[in-house]
Amino acid sequence: MAPFVILIMCFISLAFVSYVHYASRQRRRGGHEKAAKLPPGSMGWPYIGETLQLYSQNPNVFFASRQKRYGEIFKTRLLGCPCVMLASPEAARFVLVTQSHLFKPTYPRSKERMIGPWALFFHQGDYHLRLRRLVQGPLGPYALRALVPDVEAAARSTLADWDGNVASTFHAMKRLSFDVGVATIFGGQLDERRKAELRQNYSVVEKGYNSFPNSFPGTLYYKAIQARRRLHGVLSEIMRERRARGELGSDLLGCLMQSRAPAGDGGAGALLTDEQVADNVIGVLFAAQDTTASALTWIVKYLHDNPKLLEAVGAEQAAIHHANHGGARPLTWAQTRSMALTHRVILESLRMASIISFTFREAVADVEYKGTRTHARTHTRYTRT
Ligand code: HEM
Repeated sequence: MAPFVILIMCFISLAFVSYVHYASRQRRRGGHEKAAKLPPGSMGWPYIGETLQLYSQNPNVFFASRQKRYGEIFKTRLLGCPCVMLASPEAARFVLVTQSHLFKPTYPRSKERMIGPWALFFHQGDYHLRLRRLVQGPLGPYALRALVPDVEAAARSTLADWDGNVASTFHAMKRLSFDVGVATIFGGQLDERRKAELRQNYSVVEKGYNSFPNSFPGTLYYKAIQARRRLHGVLSEIMRERRARGELGSDLLGCLMQSRAPAGDGGAGALLTDEQVADNVIGVLFAAQDTTASALTWIVKYLHDNPKLLEAVGAEQAAIHHANHGGARPLTWAQTRSMALTHRVILESLRMASIISFTFREAVADVEYKGTRTHARTHTRYTRT
């Protein structure tokens, strides 16, 4: 479970103006305004900051050692971006809830490039709202109802492979989450060859996602960018085929392909481009896979650590299995709603395990938090392409 230790941490990272920029701004102000101090911490080397330290050790150790040294708020520079790291539930609430209007979502450009700059979580405003509504439909309870047989088949196949052969629970859960994600996006219609192409290329993208961004052939990042292009190619082909058949489908891909922006001047609004559709498909896969796989892995661990609970959950599941004649009859939506104890275990596991270890926001105005100041980013490296 060592890789999951990092998930316990909840860091909210805020992009903010660099030390140099801050200092020159103070000089320009001629010291008229008494400045709240910058948080403690080190900005490391010019541009690369502390990126090499982060990538040369367990990120958990990187963050925990600084937290121990500087406290719950400290500054650093990662992937070319000056950052303030906040590490407390109170700070998370400040950024995400009470003062959320002072921040906007932002990711390092290297990550935007990997997922695709049109993915909804890089945006705000009308485009974000439109995409948010769009993805909610095919991910909502009504649509998921139709997917129960696909999810059951994916779970059965995982369990069959698992029988004494699994080296890593997390990897088995990632495979399961990927299959469920693909069923949700493509409505269970994707042929095995395409699924294998998506799986293969997506796994290369994933390996490069957290690697140091550079364009040297042979590096993880370079390979990931190449695989990202191939993924786009596969998705474009699937879209072309659907258009040629005249059946766009009602799954997530179909909804994205048919969505029109609100009509203006009496004309129909524009469709999303293929690039926008592909970025959002990859974005949803990305948002769904590791999070769900982590949650499932924690559930397995907690159950393993609590034999009595495991027995009780096993009994609840066995009763349903028995009612379905030992699995001869398919699981129903109503049965998935009737697993009271299993449901409580899932909720409690989500509460106990911090699935998302950190996320980025960019300050859109000067922000003061506990006597330290974070400035609005006037020189940003997080611009969209
Ligand atoms: C246990 C599982 C999951 C956890 C803990 C989780 C957590 C999160 C968090 C914390 C965010 C906000 C990130 C930020 O604002 O910086 C987020 C956003 C998002 N998640 Fe999940 N997620 C999970 C599963 C899923 C699944 C299964 C899907 C899709 C099938 C999904 C789709 C999304 C999308 C599309 C967004 C962006 C929403 C927006 O920008 O409005 N997530 N998730």
